[in-house]
Amino acid sequence: MAPTIQSSDSLVPKIVLQTISPCPPKHRGPLAKTLTTLEKKLFPSSEAFDYVLELKKPNIGVILAYASPSPPSPNPKSNPSDQNPKPPSTPIPTPPAENLIGYLIFQRLKGVTWIHKLGVVERERRKGIGRRLVEALMWEVKRGGGRKVVLWVDEGREGARALYRGVGFEEGGVVEGYYGVGRGAVKMEVEVEAE
Ligand SMILES: CC(C)(COP(=O)(O)OP(=O)(O)OC[C@H]1O[C@@H](n2cnc3c(N)ncnc32)[C@H](O)[C@@H]1OP(=O)(O)O)[C@@H](O)C(=O)NCCC(=O)NCCS
Repeated sequence: MAPTIQSSDSLVPKIVLQTISPCPPKHRGPLAKTLTTLEKKLFPSSEAFDYVLELKKPNIGVILAYASPSPPSPNPKSNPSDQNPKPPSTPIPTPPAENLIGYLIFQRLKGVTWIHKLGVVERERRKGIGRRLVEALMWEVKRGGGRKVVLWVDEGREGARALYRGVGFEEGGVVEGYYGVGRGAVKMEVEVEAE
């Protein structure tokens, strides 16, 4: 599979989303460093990912949300009235790491796409960025001919569960102790509609 780096104009002003899947070798080092730094602020160390290792996997993808200093320029190929603009196919350079405000890590496994991580920096929460990241993945999955997105979420993360339910995920069973003592995991999944 050819590496792709794509961007999309966001419906949320001053936000740019960038999908990297798979991660080209020259981007792995800097991206691993950036994600590791951000993740330390958002997740317990027991849930830390080894991004140097993960980003080498061809089926791993990352969607990054950046605060843009100015609104992104319109995509000339998209219809301005289109509520779901398509990303351009031309690769764009990665914006500065300090502008990174959210990210989503996914993995394609046997026709199913798994969300491994979703995080938004605290000061930018409740502005729709987490939802945008998940919707962007669902669009990517649909575009790639996939049908299902699945995840495990800590049952105590009520905000995240509400977000996923809000974009169509349904909750399955709970596995007790999945994340540690007293921390069960809920399986959630959504079927993405074919285009
Ligand atoms: C969960 C998280 C990614 C949400 O990001 P966000 O950008 O604040 O989410 P959004 O603004 O897109 O929220 C969309 C909807 O999700 C629900 N939601 C999000 N955060 C919520 C919270 N703290 N409490 C209740 N509902 C919440 C709401 O329904 C919200 O819609 P509304 O704001 O119109 O009511 C963010 O809080 C986070 O990074 N938390 C720490 C890491 C984590 O829990 N990750 C998820 C598990 S992998």
